[in-house]
Amino acid sequence: MNVAVIGMQFGDEGKGKIVDFLAERFDVVARFSGGSNAGHTIVRDGEKFKFHIIPSGVLRGKIGVLGNGMVINPRKLMDEIKILNEHSIKANILISSRAHVVTRFHEEIDAVQDKELGIGTTRQGIGPCYQAKYQRSGLRIGDLFNLNFAVSRLRKQLSLAGLNVEHRAIEREISELRNMLLSLKKNIVDTEIWLNHAMDSGKNVLFEGSQGSFLDIDFGTYPFVTSTNTTVGGIIAGLGIAPRRIHKVIGVAKAYMTRVGSGPFPTELFGEDANFLRERGGEYGATTGRPRRVGNPDFVLLKYASLINGVDEIALTKVDVLSGVLDLQVATTYNCNGETYDFPPPNIEDCVPKYESMNGWTDIDDENLNLFIKKIEDFTGARVKYISYGPEPEKTEVL
Ligand code: IMP
Repeated sequence: MNVAVIGMQFGDEGKGKIVDFLAERFDVVARFSGGSNAGHTIVRDGEKFKFHIIPSGVLRGKIGVLGNGMVINPRKLMDEIKILNEHSIKANILISSRAHVVTRFHEEIDAVQDKELGIGTTRQGIGPCYQAKYQRSGLRIGDLFNLNFAVSRLRKQLSLAGLNVEHRAIEREISELRNMLLSLKKNIVDTEIWLNHAMDSGKNVLFEGSQGSFLDIDFGTYPFVTSTNTTVGGIIAGLGIAPRRIHKVIGVAKAYMTRVGSGPFPTELFGEDANFLRERGGEYGATTGRPRRVGNPDFVLLKYASLINGVDEIALTKVDVLSGVLDLQVATTYNCNGETYDFPPPNIEDCVPKYESMNGWTDIDDENLNLFIKKIEDFTGARVKYISYGPEPEKTEVL
């Protein structure tokens, strides 16, 4: 059985932990979009691992596939491999020759553009790299082994982006990136062919989503989104597999809401309430260390995320963070310019949530948590199958 794990909010839902918890049942863990903007934190034997590019399932000895829909910064990739090696963990990965390459120039362009756009990106060069891809001036991983082609390609790309870079600097960048990947040359393959054959031969694949549904380029809070389809549709194009290969969708949702970067956030909390939740939940970005914005549970967004992803089961994370909160305010509809909405409209900037009060819980056996779960199930039509109440794998309950 092949299963997709997708974030139902603004990223940072705890997908890394859930993927790690589920990974034992799978042979392969495959990523289909994004790059080092993602940050998946996993705690193993008291030690924290932060993955940005490599699918977190490699910690369980699974084969990690970096699909064609990804944008890969070889420097960041090598840093992660080094950390794994230092822990005597083999990075058993396959990299798509069709994935696009993030260079130091993309990071520079990202910083410049974000000053204008104010999205609050992770500055990892993700947007500029996808811009080049869709402009059809992109540089792909496989191209790095054809030096002359790669240099002229990157040169054209940078000049189209309005960045004046000396020819020698481009040459240096290309040969540095190529040299880094030399030791991985045999791991660079047509992953779509490998993956389809693996599934044909009975291997089970977990599709590891990155970011969350509301950072999706189509369904998120545009323009405050990332540059890819983070929702389930991204899997098909980002790995080259047919829809019928996805047998189940598990949506990961935090018990409350968080967001990093700019953009609308209807249930956002401020002041004391926000500080309390942020500190208790350790809500600081895994990639950038930025303090996350925090907010009340938002069932309007969860309902929409369930709809567009076809969520079958939900993994509800960080329920321990809300324990002891007596009065929970849960958004059930939005009022946007005088009209009531059950689903978020394309622009939620002016939407004010309508709240219902629920009783908080004291621990995971408290009946009030069951009522909260039941309400999520009513709203989303999906079954809450897992609850997570701490970063360690054993703090996960299967319902
Ligand atoms: P970018 O993906 O770096 O272009 O950033 C675009 C937006 O997505 C910014 O608001 C980022 O903070 C946000 N973002 C990107 N990746 C993640 C993630 O893995 N978790 C949470 N937010 C993210």
